[in-house]
This record gives sequence, C-alpha cells and structure tokens, in this order.
Amino acid sequence: MSGVDWQHTVIAVISRLLSVGPMPPPLQTELLPSAALPAVSFVAEEVVLLRRFAPTAALRSAIDAIAAAAPFRHLSTPGGGSMSVAMTNCGAWGWHSDARGYRYLERDPGSDLPWPAMPLALAELAARAAATAGFPGFAPDCCLVNRYAPGAQMGTHRDFDEHDLRHPIVSVSIGLPAVFLWYGASRQGPPTRVPLVDGDVLVWGGRARAGYHGVRRLPVRAEAGALRYNLTFRRAR
Ligand code: SIN
Ligand code: FE2
Repeated sequence: MSGVDWQHTVIAVISRLLSVGPMPPPLQTELLPSAALPAVSFVAEEVVLLRRFAPTAALRSAIDAIAAAAPFRHLSTPGGGSMSVAMTNCGAWGWHSDARGYRYLERDPGSDLPWPAMPLALAELAARAAATAGFPGFAPDCCLVNRYAPGAQMGTHRDFDEHDLRHPIVSVSIGLPAVFLWYGASRQGPPTRVPLVDGDVLVWGGRARAGYHGVRRLPVRAEAGALRYNLTFRRAR
C-alpha cells in the first residue's frame, strides 16, 4: 500500500467513526483561505467534502473525448423549459430529461449509439473518493457530465432516479469555482453554502443520499471562454 493509499484508508476510517458521532457545525469555508482548509471535512451528516482530490487536467482530456462521441446538449425539462447547464454522459447508463420526464437511457437519444464507455480511471477515481468519504465498494455505472457557462445554474433538486439509493453520489468539480447549496431533507432553506473549486469532490450517501441540493448561478463576469464542469457519478441500476 502506498503512503497516499494508507493516508486515505486512515481518513476513511476516521470519517466513518466521525459520521456516527455528534454533528460538527456547518462549514463556513468561504471565511477561510483555501490553504487552511482540511483535506476532508463535513458539510452535513454523511455529506463529505474532499478538497482538491481530483486530477483535473486528466479529467478535462477525458471530458473532451466523451464530448467528441456524445456532444453536450441543453436538455428540456418535463415542464418544457431548457436547462442552462449543458449535459452529456459516459458509462452503461446516461441520465436524460425531456417532456416525458427524467430517466436513464442505455443509448444517446441524439445518435442512437450507446453512451461512450466510462474510462477506468474515472470509475477508479469515483470509487476512491467514495471510500475516502466512508462509502467503500462504490461501482458507478453512470457519469453525468455537466457543463456550466457563466450564468448557468442548477435549481434545487434531489437525485432520485436511481434504482437503489444505498449507493452514494460522487460529484467532481472542474474549472471555474461555484457555490454548491446543500439543503438536506427539506428544500426549504437556508442551505449550507459550499464554495467549490477545481478538483474538489463532494460525496453524499446513507441518510443524506436523497438530500436536496443545487448550484448557485455562476457569475457572468467570469473571463471569456471559462467554464465549469461537474462529473456526477452514480449507480443507476
Ligand atoms: C448536480 O447536483 O446535479 C450538479 C452538482 C454540481 O454541478 O456541482
Ligand atoms: Fe444533483
């Protein structure tokens, strides 16, 4: 076991122990310089933030390859609106939304081809993040790729279209910073605000698995051409 793996195992054990103890106060991370932030922290019970956990240069190349096979598109909501976040998928199942509702599809409805396979490195990253957060044995079969241009947002929702909610969610941030909003069991606020930067990974599961969350609108003053990506790993089936 390498030094880094060993560190992760220790962190996972500590995280697990802490998660059955009393709740720490919510993070007010925007008050702290990022160098002072702990590598692993709790946003809420069973909602774990892994600071700068993901190697984002490699992930950007993976996203480019996925988008070359299954281009980003703005899906429509069941209510007839268009999502401000552009999406694509890799893995055995892809998340989709249109007038018929939210669901998982085995083929990209744009091309009628299977979604691009999930690169092993992505599945391994998700499994390692989940284990570090206290959820060992995670094997995602879907990676939803979200692309946020300045001005895009993700309204309050919960991830509820999967068959078995015992599997956690692993959510990786790449590129422009954003503020993630954790509401938990009720969508009535106020949420816990979690500023996310390039490489941050959020993991939620257990009693937090069906928690409400969203992403605040990205400011439009961002430098031209800059984007935020988010990879959401789930077990759909
Ligand atoms: C989502 O919850 O669907 C996206 C989360 C994010 O972009 O950070
Ligand atoms: Fe979500």
